Amino acid sequence: MPDIAFVKPALPKTGVLVLPMTEGDPPAGLAREAAEATGGLLPKALEAAGFKGRKGQTTTLYAIGPWSKVVALGLGKAADLGPEAAEDAGGALVPAISSEREAVVATDGLEAGLAAHLAFGATLRAWRFDRYRTTEKEDDKPKLERLAFATPGIAAAKSAFAPLRAIADGVFLTRELVSEPPNVLHPVEFAERCKGLERLGVEVEVLGPKEMKRLGFGALLGVAQGSAQEPRMVVMNWRGAPKGKKQKPIALIGKGVTFDTGGISIKPAAGMEDMKWDMAGAGAVVGAMAALAGRKAKADVVGLVGLVENMPSGTAQRPGDVVKSYSGQTVEVINTDAEGRLVLADVMWYCQQRFDPRCMVDLATLTGAIIIALGHEHAGLFSNDDELAQRIAAAGKAVGEACWRMPLGEAYDKQIRSDIADMKNVGGRPAGSVTAAQFLQRFTNGKPWAHLDIAGTAWSAKDRPTVPKGATAFGVRLLDRLVQ
Ligand code: BES
Ligand code: MN
Ligand code: ZN
Repeated sequence: MPDIAFVKPALPKTGVLVLPMTEGDPPAGLAREAAEATGGLLPKALEAAGFKGRKGQTTTLYAIGPWSKVVALGLGKAADLGPEAAEDAGGALVPAISSEREAVVATDGLEAGLAAHLAFGATLRAWRFDRYRTTEKEDDKPKLERLAFATPGIAAAKSAFAPLRAIADGVFLTRELVSEPPNVLHPVEFAERCKGLERLGVEVEVLGPKEMKRLGFGALLGVAQGSAQEPRMVVMNWRGAPKGKKQKPIALIGKGVTFDTGGISIKPAAGMEDMKWDMAGAGAVVGAMAALAGRKAKADVVGLVGLVENMPSGTAQRPGDVVKSYSGQTVEVINTDAEGRLVLADVMWYCQQRFDPRCMVDLATLTGAIIIALGHEHAGLFSNDDELAQRIAAAGKAVGEACWRMPLGEAYDKQIRSDIADMKNVGGRPAGSVTAAQFLQRFTNGKPWAHLDIAGTAWSAKDRPTVPKGATAFGVRLLDRLVQ
């Protein structure tokens, strides 16, 4: 990750210069000085190259003036330039300079806060997971070590950037967890990594199978019983609300299936490797807790993750099994591949009983059906509380993690009635994401709750401005903003 510095506005004597420019405006400040230093050649060359300043447009000129490289970076129309556009532009810059060690970015014409968001966008895009690459050639590796942002408001930019840096660290933690292969990141290892949050002042408790058995987590343990890896539940508590301003906590809950084979209702082989990221909900909760603690959020937030591996074996649960959940409600397991809801059922009931939260928000890669409904553009948002749903939708929109509200209702709930138990774990083909949410709702005990089905948004097949392809960490920024 490049170091980010904010420095006094001055053109560098050599090296790489980045000139952010708005669409349709003449160069100003350092950009104008640079134009003059090249005797007018720079703007001419940019025009000839077709640079218009469109958001995210980059044009690179080599060996012009005293610089080895000048990158013009489009910010879009000045009137539309807000934090999000600045982040996207910062992200778009990264591929254009990743072969350089350092660059000076002339953000002298931008408000200090926007310079910080540009730096944030670049930081988010520059992340890469290369732990398991051992033979990559030096030339192929990204080199970027330092980005210096020129700004007259150094102090203001630094203080705007500090919380963003903490959020980026949360995002990176999530991306790392989601990227790790499933032989490395099993439930025990996942819980171990949660322990790392203690360093930030988060209280972390880890429950193993003995404790969960004693509590009566029959739904979660039923999923875990086919695996050689022990399950875990982790409770992370951040108490940041100032004394005298204590409220009931906000609860964040994550599905943490470290690998989902489907169990005895086994999945087809093609693409099954994707199921290493079936813990992305839990990953987002851990990353959000890290972000909140890292920026010392003035709020009380508790994060809970249910961690299991769903495997087929001689000890695995069978289709037809009836399990008793922690709530006391019984579930007929029709399909062992509908395991996420079984895990969440016990964690949600525990959360609600122990913490009596203001609200519960769960994140889960819960259904393939949500990808059919919404593709990769929105997460599915389900809620029993209109105000909470509206706040989540607004938070998501503000940070580029869009959600789309989906319905709930009695008629859907009927689809999960069982002939032998209180409910069954699947409701048939129609509205598969809705019946999954109906199942979860039965474990909310009427508390304000929202469920985000992130099966379509947790992983990206292509690069996006602030998100390199792969693990997106969808939810971390949304949850941070929601708490804010
Ligand atoms: N983890 C999957 C959902 C999933 C599918 C996430 C594709 C990401 C990409 C979940 O546990 C699952 O298997 N759901 C089943 C439910 C069905 C058996 C009712 C599904 O979506 O097919
Ligand atoms: Mn499954
Ligand atoms: Zn799953």
